[in-house]
Amino acid sequence: MKKKVFSGIQPSGQLHIGNYLGAIKNWIHLQNDYEAIFCIVDLHAITVPQDPEELKKRVLEIAKIYLASGINPEKSTIFVQSQIQEHTELAWILNTLAKISEMERMTQFKDKSQKKGQENSSVGLFDYPVLMASDILLYNTDLVPVGEDQLQHIELARTLARRFNKKFGNTFILPQPSLQKNGTRIMGLDNPLKKMSKSSSSEYNYISLLDSAEIVQKKIRKAVTDSGSKIVYSTEKPALKNLINIYSLFSEKTTQEIEIEYQDRGYAEFKNDLAQIIIEFLTDFQKKFQAISDEEVIKILKQGAQKAFPLAKEKMKEVKEKMGLSF
Ligand code: TYM
Repeated sequence: MKKKVFSGIQPSGQLHIGNYLGAIKNWIHLQNDYEAIFCIVDLHAITVPQDPEELKKRVLEIAKIYLASGINPEKSTIFVQSQIQEHTELAWILNTLAKISEMERMTQFKDKSQKKGQENSSVGLFDYPVLMASDILLYNTDLVPVGEDQLQHIELARTLARRFNKKFGNTFILPQPSLQKNGTRIMGLDNPLKKMSKSSSSEYNYISLLDSAEIVQKKIRKAVTDSGSKIVYSTEKPALKNLINIYSLFSEKTTQEIEIEYQDRGYAEFKNDLAQIIIEFLTDFQKKFQAISDEEVIKILKQGAQKAFPLAKEKMKEVKEKMGLSF
């Protein structure tokens, strides 16, 4: 039997090249060897306020991004989280096993609650990692391809699975994370010490997958660089290291090959070429994105939910029986 992959993205802002390089790019390879499920996690998105019309549009946009990136609906299951109620049902059950102290250690909650303060953040935002654990555990997932920022959440999913299994008998598989080499943490173009983020206040932090060629050129030109003029890949030069990583992931050249290629050339030439490489990728990507209609994508999402539902239903039945929630 094929091993299982599950991952998801929130429809809560512009998807950027960090989401692509850190997560989606890895999914495309994995779907060939695994039974793959890729979800659009709208219930996670509503842990912060969302405009309903905008949210609906974003869900379709993310599905189109999956397809334009090369996720093949013949091989992979693509669906929207809120369409399968078992996700929230399992989240409630796992809530009864998760400890408040564990949840308080989640660094994403600490970051995301900073804006409003923890007292004014929603309980949903606090509980978000438990819902993520239920997404993963519901489908007997072996592998979760994500960026580095999600590792702590996967660890929690493993802890909850272990705890449930110990209490009620073997039920859940312990999932493993899968990281994309050099892409696990793409940093902000305006600040190489913080990850590229769709919730960043400056648009010069990220390159959106839907940015035009002119915007990409401008953003790369404005990207901060380190002092000096040599193109070297080193932790002492975090801005340049980040740009070389991006170059490497889009061009499939190693970071050493890039260093050699640019050893006698300056930042300006390097940045110019980097912008061109990104533009080439985005032009092709955006052409595919534009060619997908809303109708087509809705059909794929409905079919995906139909495929995922029996798996979720069966797992929930097993969970409820083991816990004495059935008669
Ligand atoms: P989200 O929507 O914030 O991000 C989606 C994916 O993109 C990765 N990512 C990055 N990778 C590299 N560099 C970056 N700068 C960068 N920014 C984001 C994230 O690690 C993620 O893989 N909680 C999740 C969504 C989720 C999920 C799941 C994921 C819900 N249920 C089950 C896996 C399995 C999230 O908010 O990702």
